[in-house]
Amino acid sequence: MNSGPLRRMGVIERFAGILPVSDKTPVITLLEGSTPLIEAVNIKKSLGVSFDIYLKYEGMNPTGSFKDRGMTVAVSKAAEKGSRAVICASTGNTSASASAYAVRGGMKSIVVIPEGAIALGKLSQALIHGASVVAVKGNFDRCLEIVKDICENYEVEMVNSINPFRIEGQKTAAYEVFQDLGRMPDYQFMPVGNAGNITAYWKGYREISESGGCTPPRMMGFQASGAAPIVEGRVFDNPETVATAIRIGNPASWKKAEEARDESGGVIESVTDSEILSAWRELACLEGVFAEPASAASLAGLKKSLSAGDIPEGFDGEAVLVLTGHGLKDPGRAVESVDPPGVVEADIEEVARAAGL
Ligand code: F0G
Repeated sequence: MNSGPLRRMGVIERFAGILPVSDKTPVITLLEGSTPLIEAVNIKKSLGVSFDIYLKYEGMNPTGSFKDRGMTVAVSKAAEKGSRAVICASTGNTSASASAYAVRGGMKSIVVIPEGAIALGKLSQALIHGASVVAVKGNFDRCLEIVKDICENYEVEMVNSINPFRIEGQKTAAYEVFQDLGRMPDYQFMPVGNAGNITAYWKGYREISESGGCTPPRMMGFQASGAAPIVEGRVFDNPETVATAIRIGNPASWKKAEEARDESGGVIESVTDSEILSAWRELACLEGVFAEPASAASLAGLKKSLSAGDIPEGFDGEAVLVLTGHGLKDPGRAVESVDPPGVVEADIEEVARAAGL
């Protein structure tokens, strides 16, 4: 047995060889990455399938979402260049991550969010890290347009996923899945919003496949049906979904997501809000994994693919579901969606009876 504690590495240190960093890059890290790949035995049983299902639980990153993988690279590269400030538009998680990493790098952060449309946990993160938070009377797509314009006119580094360093950092999740499974999964199910993450995973899987000759997974991306521009092939001017993280009508990486779908032989489909919410509850109640609603689009998508016959009968390989963010980002929705706790007198018998003992 190893007597010393295991030293945790961040994404840049663990994956330096495949990232655009050098000895001159200051490493701004919160020791992100190395997230668990959890076998979902109970979901497998409840679906009655013969393949194995794994949950890549990205909510275990330092700020509670997958964004930290890309942010450590984007903010470190901004620091290398001498930038003093970073900016992003966000449905919440990017803003939480950018503001935390900016603090580590001694930079100012500016986050532009759609007013009233981001989960409270995410807003609290940006605020407590001291970001300049600007809430815009408009949706995410409008926020992103404004941020792009600002970057053309002011000295500030854009850290949305159109920044290629974000994609480089996020592709490390594909390497982790490959290393943890010891092989490529056959399918990967994931939510799609601005489409940076599906782009990043596909880049990672393609790189691994090119160097090792193994077949990358089919990329199965899922948008919410009220915010499904890629599925329907049109911009959504007023995207709507309970999964606020993916409430996006005009994704920045639209074309790249289509490439990931087409090159991998996958699909980009939509799932309804009620399918997302029931998958979200199943993750919590069957596996003990509390993800945020947008993340559950991956399980909702798997169920949809099964009923659509997109997965062959008797398939017995491996499917990975990416759970992009932690459930504690949006506790209000969880509390709203269940019965409130029963209140009793402070008496042992009353408590035991109420607890069903
Ligand atoms: N899941 C969560 C929890 C997210 O926060 C996001 C995106 C996605 C999925 C979709 O990822 O945009 O790369 O396709 N959130 C961004 C943000 C837009 O601002 O936090 P994507």
